[in-house]
Amino acid sequence: MPAESPAVAPLREFIRALPKAETHLHMEGACPFELLQRADPVRHARPPVFWEESFKYTSFNQFMDLYVAYCGEFFTSAERYHDAARIVLATCAAQGCRYVETSFHLPTLLSMKDTGPEVIRAIKAAAPRGLELRVFAGMCHDTYQGAGKDLVDDALSWPELDGIDLHGCEDLPLEPWTGEVWARARRAGKFTKAHAGEFMGAGFMERILDELGVTRIEHGIRSVESQATLARLRREGIALDVCPLSNVKLAVSGIRSMADHPIRRLFDAGITVTVSSDDPFFLNNTLTQEYEALHRDLGFSRSELVRVAENSLRVALVPEHVRGAWLNELADVAVRTAVAE
Ligand code: ADE
Ligand code: ZN
Repeated sequence: MPAESPAVAPLREFIRALPKAETHLHMEGACPFELLQRADPVRHARPPVFWEESFKYTSFNQFMDLYVAYCGEFFTSAERYHDAARIVLATCAAQGCRYVETSFHLPTLLSMKDTGPEVIRAIKAAAPRGLELRVFAGMCHDTYQGAGKDLVDDALSWPELDGIDLHGCEDLPLEPWTGEVWARARRAGKFTKAHAGEFMGAGFMERILDELGVTRIEHGIRSVESQATLARLRREGIALDVCPLSNVKLAVSGIRSMADHPIRRLFDAGITVTVSSDDPFFLNNTLTQEYEALHRDLGFSRSELVRVAENSLRVALVPEHVRGAWLNELADVAVRTAVAE
């Protein structure tokens, strides 16, 4: 008998104690309901229908319509982004996040008097002490036209901006400007990533890799449909920022419940996967619940959850000494709290 056997923490406490990163989080989709209620108490007197346990979106368009209906009129200033980010980031930190990568929808700026740099600084000023935050500009397949084109070109020169992300309706055509802008962003020192393989298949992921040159894909779950794409992700060390509960609620590619989710197969195939909450206001989920669901529904052991947390720290955009300190801390927590499976 060892003199002292480490305690086995309850699962939720174990997950909270893991230093980890949330790398796929839309600020508008994380909008705290209390802020919407404060802004319009009559309209938001009741909890949203999409918070009901059994609620499923019928399509991505319905999801986007609700996005606009609930949040379209909220994000009208840098101050509003700041107020939302303060609550959202405190919630992340309380769940053990050391790093958050959040995006805001760039075209929102087209109808706002505050500038992009002001909005980004407002979001960054909301980060609690000890939380590393990177802010990305999200744009859609059809953003680069009219005033949107000038905005994208301008954004690449903002020192406050850490990266860009392609989001929105995945089945709109991938236009030729995208690859050129993604390459230009990297030359300007920005990190680039893109949503793919959520609604479109592995072939579209291959196009995103070829044409945009990204090394991280948001979702990317439909890569399981192609052994060649899986081999490529492994060979090129492409990481997938997966949001399992989001995929269930949006009924992506026939996923009706967590038991159907391919993240187990991706993980077992040696792909670098992380988990994130995507749009916690619209999905009624938390990062903790994402980890819990991996354990409960897909049989991820505690040491496998540690590996998922480790993946998230490995993709974080931080200096190596910061990552090293987090990884040491993660190893300590794993030993102290995860002895029994
Ligand atoms: N924007 C916000 N959530 C998204 C998702 N799940 N897919 C694509 N674009 C999004
Ligand atoms: Zn997303």
